[in-house]
Parts: sequence; structure tokens; C-alpha cells
Amino acid sequence: MLSGKRIILGVTGGIAAYKAAFLLRALQKAGAEVRVTMTPAATRFVGTETFSSLSKHEVAVDVFPENESATESWTQHISWGEWADIFVIAPCTANTLAKIATGAADNMLTSTVLAARCPLLICPTMDGEMFASPAVQKNLDTVQEFGYHVLEPEEGYLASGLEGKGRLPETDLILEKCSAVLKKNKSEGPLSGKKVVVTAGPTREHIDPVRFISNPSSGKMGFAMAEAAAQMGAEVILIHGPISLSKPTGIATIEIESTQELFEQVQKHADADVVIMAAAVSDFSPEEVHAQKVKKDKADSSIKLKQTPDILAWLGDHKKREQVLIGFAMETENLLENAQAKLEKKKADWIIANSLNEDESGFESDKNKVHLIGKKDTIQIEGLKSDVARQTLSHIFKNS
Ligand code: CTP
Repeated sequence: MLSGKRIILGVTGGIAAYKAAFLLRALQKAGAEVRVTMTPAATRFVGTETFSSLSKHEVAVDVFPENESATESWTQHISWGEWADIFVIAPCTANTLAKIATGAADNMLTSTVLAARCPLLICPTMDGEMFASPAVQKNLDTVQEFGYHVLEPEEGYLASGLEGKGRLPETDLILEKCSAVLKKNKSEGPLSGKKVVVTAGPTREHIDPVRFISNPSSGKMGFAMAEAAAQMGAEVILIHGPISLSKPTGIATIEIESTQELFEQVQKHADADVVIMAAAVSDFSPEEVHAQKVKKDKADSSIKLKQTPDILAWLGDHKKREQVLIGFAMETENLLENAQAKLEKKKADWIIANSLNEDESGFESDKNKVHLIGKKDTIQIEGLKSDVARQTLSHIFKNS
């Protein structure tokens, strides 16, 4: 359940802060990507360097960092809040708990709590008497009413030298609770119970066994769409052409090579509730495919091509009631005009349009700048492809 998940680990100023380093390692071992935010008080127990070395990412402490260029910007709490699948605060002091219960946002950790779109797991850790105090108990009730999850502390020997209920639970228990929260969240997502087909990557049209017509699609955007749909609770089938990305966990994948193979697989799954055509489909294939390698001294100087089937247009013509069809448009000129024309011609519900002329977008990039064009509105989204995928799907399923 934790493999491939993006986790924010929040560390607050209690003696159990040192245990958070072990928790971070355990989450990574389980396959998760972890970023850490600490309260200023937490940095008095463990240095930020410990967590930045382990997480291989800068630790977020201040909303207004002194060295702005070293961080994304002062809006980092917003981007982290969108990025994460789960936010775990371990240990969580009585002070931070009180701030969460009242909506205070006086540091990066508490600001990120408010910005987070993912489930929050709070592991309160403090002295036994403090934990039993009416204020802490009331705050725990309040945060659970907000829908946040709480993992109660364990009984035992405490840093004060006293015995009581206040210890941070064992790492394995925190991991188990994270998995349970993610599982619950998945089945409650806006796409739960929905079948989503995503196509990704290029297709190849062979001329002979060693030569083909293709394009430089990396498949990154399609994979990001598949992962975003799965995180929203969908049962995802990812049909992809030849690419070098590792397979996403928990998502069924089907490999294809040619447009015809892609077409056949899409037709097989055309009963899906949502189809996302992110594949960069070859528009042409050679009329003749040679069974043996064509020797260069015998090759013709031209290759006769025929058009491949337009899969999105076929889906538009065979659209089921309530089905949502999402296409892409990759343009080098007249972006909005051409993309709008594709929306209408192919009878899609949405077109995600991007221009090859923009910096930091397009085939190989990890980022993208897109216009999401619907029948009623157009919005612009930019950022990491994973963020663009999530925001796109969130907008679509708020407006479908
Ligand atoms: N598409 C498709 N089948 C094709 C070609 C494209 O299903 N044979 C889909 C793509 O997956 C994308 C959308 O149609 O979702 C638009 O693809 P794009 O390559 O931008 O446009 P084309 O329709 O190929 O038109 P043109 O190349 O003239 O821009």
C-alpha cells in the first residue's frame, strides 16, 4: 500500500523526534517517497540535516525561508499539500495538536496541514498527564471531527522518568496505520468504483523488422494521469507503447506497439467510465511492411503511407452515456484553435492542450504547461506532470 506513495512526515518538538528518522527510513523501505517538514522546536531535538540527508530533499521549516532561492518559494506549503498522498505527524506535541485543532498556521508544518488535500495522520506524543488533560482530549476530539486520523500513543516509560500513556507507537504500527488510512481513502476517492482507461507513450509503425515510424513521447504524462486516477480511487488500466518508465504499482498495464494494437486494446476496454487518450499515436503507417530487413541498396527512396485509425474519434462516435472522454493535443502553432477543433471533431469532453514551443513542457520534460479545454471553460494548469494530472482530473470530476 505504501509503495510509490508520497508522504509528508511532520516532526514536532518532542523527545520522540529522533524516532521520526527511523520512521522515515521505514517508510522509504516500504517504497514511499518522503519529504519532511519540522516545527522550529523540533529542530532543537534533531537537526534538519538528518532529515534532508535521509529524504534527499530540503526540509521545510519556515514559511518565509531566509534563502529563498534554495526552496521552491513561499508557496511551498501549497505545492506540498497538493503533492502528498498522506501527511503523517509523528511525533505530534500537545502544542501542535492545539494549533491544528484551531486552524493556526504559524509555521510550515501547520500551514501545510491547512493546505493538504490528502488524509492527515496525527500521532500525539507527550507526557501521560498532558495526554490525559481535558484540553488535549478536547483537541483530539476536534481534529477527529475534522476527519483527521489519530493513532493513540502507547503506555510505557516516558522521557520524564514517569510511566504513562504518551509514547510514540512502534514504527511498524505507524506504517500499518498509514496503509489503513490510504486504503480507506482510496475506496472513498471521487473515482472509486470507476473504470479508467489511460493510454500512454508512443506507437511504432514498422517499415521492416529494424526500422519504424514513431515519436519521442516518454509516456510520463500518461503515467501521471494513470497514477492520479488510481489515487482518486479508480480501477485503472494503463495501455502503453514502448517506453522506459518503471511500471506504476497497483495499476494493470497492457503493452502495445502499433496503433492497430492500441486500437484493439482500447476497443476491448471501451466500456470504461473514463478514457484518457494520452498516447502519442502515429498518424501514419507504411502501406507495406517488409518481413525482412530492407537492404539499403535495394530500398525505394520513398515510403508509401496510409493513415492509422483515429482512436479518440472512434471513441467519440461510440461514446457510452455518462462516459467521459479526455484527449490530448500537442501543437506547434495555433494551440487553442487547433485543440478546440479536436475537441469538437473527435467528440471528446475535454482536451488537454500543450504547445511544443513552451519551455519546461512537452515530451521528455517532467513538467508541463497545459490548457484544459472543456465544452464550457478553459483553464491553465502548470507544474510537475504529476501535479498537472491531479489538478486536471480534480477539475474535470468537479465539473463533469
Ligand atoms: N489520437 C488518436 N488516434 C490517432 C491520432 C491521435 O486517438 N490516430 C488521439 C491522441 O491520443 C490525442 C488526440 O487524438 O488524444 C489528438 O492527437 P494529436 O496527435 O494532437 O492530433 P491528431 O488527431 O493526430 O491531429 P494532427 O496530427 O493533425 O494535429
